[in-house]
Amino acid sequence: MSDPGHNPIDTKIATADDPGALDQAVELLGQGQLVAIPTETVYGLASNALSPEAVARVFKAKGRPANNPLIVHVESAEMARRCVAAWPSAADRLAEVFWPGPLSIVLPKADSVPDIVTAGGETVAVRCPAHPVMLEVLNRCGFPLAAPSANLSNQVSPTRAGHVAEQLADRIPMILDGGPCDVGIESTVVDLTGEIATVLRPGMVSPEQIRDVLGEVRTASGSRSSGTLKSPGQLPLHYSPKARVILAGEDWKKSLGQAGPKAYVISTEPPPADCDLENWHQLPASPDGYARSLYDTLNQCDQTGAELILIQSLPTGAGWDAIRDRLTRAASGS
Ligand code: TXA
Ligand code: MG
Repeated sequence: MSDPGHNPIDTKIATADDPGALDQAVELLGQGQLVAIPTETVYGLASNALSPEAVARVFKAKGRPANNPLIVHVESAEMARRCVAAWPSAADRLAEVFWPGPLSIVLPKADSVPDIVTAGGETVAVRCPAHPVMLEVLNRCGFPLAAPSANLSNQVSPTRAGHVAEQLADRIPMILDGGPCDVGIESTVVDLTGEIATVLRPGMVSPEQIRDVLGEVRTASGSRSSGTLKSPGQLPLHYSPKARVILAGEDWKKSLGQAGPKAYVISTEPPPADCDLENWHQLPASPDGYARSLYDTLNQCDQTGAELILIQSLPTGAGWDAIRDRLTRAASGS
């Protein structure tokens, strides 16, 4: 957590329903300060999206590269329209069906959105989150909030206030604790600036669900050779725990034998009777349940000094793609 170029500041952690906590959060945001706030996906590190100075603090606190744009959070489609230069009917239909919820929509940016938010680009990602605390803060602020996940750059996203504190205490003035996040992995990012809607980052809103609304959709993975980096978050080295991560294949139980004492297992199955590994995390066998627990488990692994995380290969089938994407990224850092 300590790095030579930054002065430690006191971090207040407040329960979101503490009297006065929201007032204080809104006041800090109004002053251009940062507040970590729960959303339904992961905790976000929020700043006034219309203030370049406030947004600069986000990049500094996270150690985030300046070429990676931020998502702008809004409390309504109406607020979203003020952040974009064009609001096509496709955006209207997606917002109608999926907002508030885990879908970020990329559109041409309005002049009112500072360049630092979009990393100098001509487009902006907007999202209306489905969390009462974040919605209430947005409502009281009256301005949109630029908020990346509230983790240090390239580390695991936080799904509890404690995860945020572990990574960002001493760097930000306030964390609002709204309990564990319900969705558990980051929003789907869909780009509406091209001819066909393109999913840049998979999430729990699936391409099929988007196709049902728009009639047509593409996924970006096939087009990555095009040279331009449409979504820097799609660089392979994102979302990495500190431990080495191995995605085990079909015969994954064979690898258990080689696992040392600092090895953890993440599986949808209970440990076999003859297994003496202490750190066995059994996750739900449904995509929703697995996504909800995944980052909590990975953050726990980080906090308790895991050296190796062995992850049982996931079931194939609809619903697992976004989780597979995150696990593949976690493993590619190893
Ligand atoms: O669920 C979420 O999306 C969470 C919560 C806090 O809302 N936020 C989040 O933010 O995951 P972040 O900064 O960790 O990831 C944002 C992703 C990155 O992959 C970024 O490159 C992409 O969205 N992105 C942001 N603006 C973009 C734009 N204009 N064009 C393409 N990709 C964009
Ligand atoms: Mg992130």
